[in-house]
Amino acid sequence: MIPFAQPGSLTRVYCVASGKGGVGKSSVTVNLAAAMAAKGLSVGVVDADIYGHSVPRMLGVTARPTKVDDMIMPPQAHGVKVISIGMFTPGNEAVVWRGPMLHRALQQFLADVFWGDLDVLLLDLPPGTGDIAISTAQLVPNAELLVVTTPQMAAAEVAERAGSIALQTRQRLAGVVENMSWMEMPDGTRMEVFGAGGGQTVADSLTRTLGAPVPLLGQVPLETRLRECGDSGTPVVLTEPESAAAQALRGVADKLATRARGLAGMSLNISPVRR
Ligand SMILES: Nc1ncnc2c1ncn2[C@@H]1O[C@H](COP(=O)(O)OP(=O)(O)OP(=O)(O)O)[C@@H](O)[C@H]1O
Ligand SMILES: [Mg+2]
Repeated sequence: MIPFAQPGSLTRVYCVASGKGGVGKSSVTVNLAAAMAAKGLSVGVVDADIYGHSVPRMLGVTARPTKVDDMIMPPQAHGVKVISIGMFTPGNEAVVWRGPMLHRALQQFLADVFWGDLDVLLLDLPPGTGDIAISTAQLVPNAELLVVTTPQMAAAEVAERAGSIALQTRQRLAGVVENMSWMEMPDGTRMEVFGAGGGQTVADSLTRTLGAPVPLLGQVPLETRLRECGDSGTPVVLTEPESAAAQALRGVADKLATRARGLAGMSLNISPVRR
């Protein structure tokens, strides 16, 4: 039984997805989670990138999950509950699994982990539209997609494809985050390392494809501190809250945290009374 997939569940579930790899999904995921937890929300993160798990390092989680009765208790860091396949494999051992095993692992992360009453659950997906993206859509149909892209057109085109799987999986799209948008130079000018416009292009194009508004939720600049804070397990939104990247990420967290979490569009499982 997956609590988040039950009708009436009030946990907002966001799947952080991208087309291309390395655009910053995991960095965005851990910073959004830390920012929301700092606001007082109850937050969980599932590292659903089974082969490329990187969330535990970025959140500085070294503890392993513990077992209580039949449930797995997730370790916590910065007020965020975290589970990752990396916590179950010795050292840096590679996971060599095919689709069905990935599906089972994800199901266990969602059903057998004691998450408690979460306000928000974030799933850090691997890049692309593979098995895991399909499995999450099946396991938590009410999860919404959050698409991460860089400004680069080549990345944006692939991001559009990743977002448009929402059409087939019937998932909702929460919005787009553009990462690595620019780098601020010492003289205050912006160097657009990866070009410009990718995030807005993806948002506009997904709005057309889905026939529902898909907003560009924020633009996160390239910052050395963001990378360093990820490497040391201390998210930049907490350690350098005034940096431009932290402010942009907090802005996205605020938008996602304040979205209506009503039951609109969800089945309440009520059937009419027969006379
Ligand atoms: N805004 C940024 N400024 C500086 N470095 C960044 C930024 N965003 C991400 N990075 C760095 O870029 C690298 C890739 O980021 P990250 O691992 O978050 O991407 P990803 O999309 O999760 O990658 P993968 O597809 O492999 O899962 C990391 O080393 C990260 O620290
Ligand atoms: Mg990643």
